[in-house]
Amino acid sequence: MKTNWQGLRAHHAEIADTRIAGLLKNPSRAAEFSVRHGEMLFDFSKTTLDAKALSLLLKLSDAAGVEAKRDAMFSGAKINETEGRAVLHTALRNLNAAVMVDGENVMPPVRATYARMVEFARDVREGKIKGQGGAYTDVVNIGIGGSDLGPAMAYLALAPYGDGPRCHFVSNVDGAHIHDTLRGLNPETTLVIIASKTFTTIETMTNAETARVWMAAQVTDPAAQFAAVSTAADKTAAFGIDPSRVFGFEDWVGGRYSMWGPIGLSLMLAIGPAGFDDFLAGAADMDAHFRHAAPAHNLPILLALVGIWHNQICGYTTRAVLPYDQRLSRLPAYLQQLEMESNGKRVSMDGVDLVEHSGPVVWGEPGTNGQHAFYQLIHQGTRVVPCEFIVTRQGHEPELAHQHLLLVANCLAQSEALMRGRNLAEATEIMAKKGLTGAELDRQARHRVFPGNRPSTTLAIPKLTPFTLGQIVALYEHRVFVEGVILGLNSFDQWGVELGKELAVALQPILEGRVSADDKDASTRMLVDYLRAAKQA
Ligand code: F6P
Repeated sequence: MKTNWQGLRAHHAEIADTRIAGLLKNPSRAAEFSVRHGEMLFDFSKTTLDAKALSLLLKLSDAAGVEAKRDAMFSGAKINETEGRAVLHTALRNLNAAVMVDGENVMPPVRATYARMVEFARDVREGKIKGQGGAYTDVVNIGIGGSDLGPAMAYLALAPYGDGPRCHFVSNVDGAHIHDTLRGLNPETTLVIIASKTFTTIETMTNAETARVWMAAQVTDPAAQFAAVSTAADKTAAFGIDPSRVFGFEDWVGGRYSMWGPIGLSLMLAIGPAGFDDFLAGAADMDAHFRHAAPAHNLPILLALVGIWHNQICGYTTRAVLPYDQRLSRLPAYLQQLEMESNGKRVSMDGVDLVEHSGPVVWGEPGTNGQHAFYQLIHQGTRVVPCEFIVTRQGHEPELAHQHLLLVANCLAQSEALMRGRNLAEATEIMAKKGLTGAELDRQARHRVFPGNRPSTTLAIPKLTPFTLGQIVALYEHRVFVEGVILGLNSFDQWGVELGKELAVALQPILEGRVSADDKDASTRMLVDYLRAAKQA
């Protein structure tokens, strides 16, 4: 492994002067450095990767045992070693297969729960299951992290397919979130879904209690307005939720990988079971591609290798995800959890320090909005930010096709501009035509130079549908997995969230004034004093 990393670094140094625009003069580069899967196209030709770099990266992946570990994951092996769990979110979109964990086929109860979800969703959508005031018009999903980001992202993404109740997503413990969400709703026609794998998460349980009080004040049978999604049936029962409205899942579904099962209930209510099935089918299609395509043509493996090249080899510490699709506006936030909670680790599976840096900071916003905000830095800042563009061939509004064309033009223009840049001679010529001369011309021209040679990839899909969204999300899940295997870490635990949670519990009584802040550091004591005073005011 070590020699593979060294080989990559040596090659990176050798090709340090490579210009992407120069590479693209090779007429076969675009075809060679892109992959098609069905109607999906992934173009990574606008990067500095050359054939040797790609072959070294493929060797790195091979030496890390990506394919064997992938097969182990799909087969139900306990690859989440720090929690002693299998990793089987893929089974949720391949319901008819048998999957053995500890010698037992775990799928029959999964299928049974899925059938109950479908029935529940149908009955809610048809008004057979209803609230005190009649058919549910609104669904409030209370959850956080993996119990929120996936369904919230997909609900927005699939708005054109939404023909069920309106969905709202409450996650933040900040009371403003639930307050503002419930304010416009009629409790008698609102279904509250409490979504929490553990049913202990403080934010979710606090918001659930607030919703219960809100409901109890206005309806005679609050229980009829709630459902729950959790692995902890005892805790949902203790909360008072009727077992017929509780949809369980297993500990081998990680929180940030859970939208394919009961955590996706709000999405299923919105788009219907058939649409949800298409979403699962898209993900299953990507699973099959990941399992069977040769590494050099395998989308998740290639996305991961491009990521490793940019982050660990080139040293670019962040990655911008830039969907040119307003409905994917929550995708960057979703990917932040997926990537950063999965691969933001500092020790390897064996508990020794990582030899390479962990995964990148992932961030982004939809285009074209970002163009008028942070693209300045992407084009002219001193640091390089690899960009991942996502674009669709067709929008959902035929009457606004001219706007979609403009959107696509902007997406392509950005990747082209990042690559080409504008040199000083070109900038000088432009400013000279505007009448500038001498020192002022030099000064003004320098501000208008774009260094260019900034790498980007583009994922192009025909249209944003349940199927293609399923493909995209599964693609990113597997990319994270491959990166994790290559870095040698466990992508499926999240110990890094624990310390802050523990300290928050300890700070609560201090802020209430019940416990002294004396053993806190001076900074925290000062902030406690300040914030307590504000609370009393
Ligand atoms: O704080 C991290 C985390 O455990 C995430 O991994 C998870 O998605 C989220 O909290 C919510 O957890 P739960 O579904 O158990 O409420």
